[in-house]
Amino acid sequence: MESVKKYETQLAMRSDLVLARDKLEDGLLFKDGSEKNNSELATLLASAFPDEKWDEIKVAEQLTAADDVCKVRLLYRDGILIGTASARENRVKFPGQGYVHWVAVLPTLQNRGYGKILVKEVLHTLFEENLWPAILETDDHRLGAIKSYLSVGFAPHCLQDDHATRWSKVFYNLARPRND
Ligand SMILES: CC(C)(COP(=O)(O)OP(=O)(O)OC[C@H]1O[C@@H](n2cnc3c(N)ncnc32)[C@H](O)[C@@H]1OP(=O)(O)O)[C@@H](O)C(=O)NCCC(=O)NCCS
Repeated sequence: MESVKKYETQLAMRSDLVLARDKLEDGLLFKDGSEKNNSELATLLASAFPDEKWDEIKVAEQLTAADDVCKVRLLYRDGILIGTASARENRVKFPGQGYVHWVAVLPTLQNRGYGKILVKEVLHTLFEENLWPAILETDDHRLGAIKSYLSVGFAPHCLQDDHATRWSKVFYNLARPRND
């Protein structure tokens, strides 16, 4: 992977596809999150995004008490919170459309398909809430996340002059042998 470069804008992806929900394997359970879950969400998000400071206040501001977030989905495995993704309307940047917000899976359980399960779940919520099509934003270096999003129907959505070139680099990097 190329060294991590922070751009002023994130890349965007869009999906018009609502895929059938997966049958959940034994032990997996979805719940809706609320402020009662702030502590466990902060722990999960801090582990998935180690470069960012997550605490209960930030979780409330960004997710459980945010008035533009319709649903915070929590994925439990055998009673332990292993992943989250939220359905939001980003009224400033994408009014009327659905926005997939803060997708995270516990690092020890990544690359097992849980990210796809979470995003498909949120796509259903957005569609049901008539927030459509669905948009998400991500960073150029998040190849695992981008691969996961592509596999549930998201496609690059170029919003800025430099996005097409940046997407070319992303696909070039996705096609290279992984060294992680
Ligand atoms: C992004 C995230 C939610 C995805 O969840 P996940 O459960 O790991 O993802 P999935 O297992 O559903 O899919 C991951 C895919 O990416 C691939 N992948 C993982 N790392 C990769 C890399 N460095 N390069 C290329 N592909 C990669 C996996 O092989 C898998 O593809 P496959 O289904 O064809 O085998 C999770 O990895 C995560 O929490 N990452 C840290 C936080 C983050 O980046 N969130 C997204 C912000 S936009």
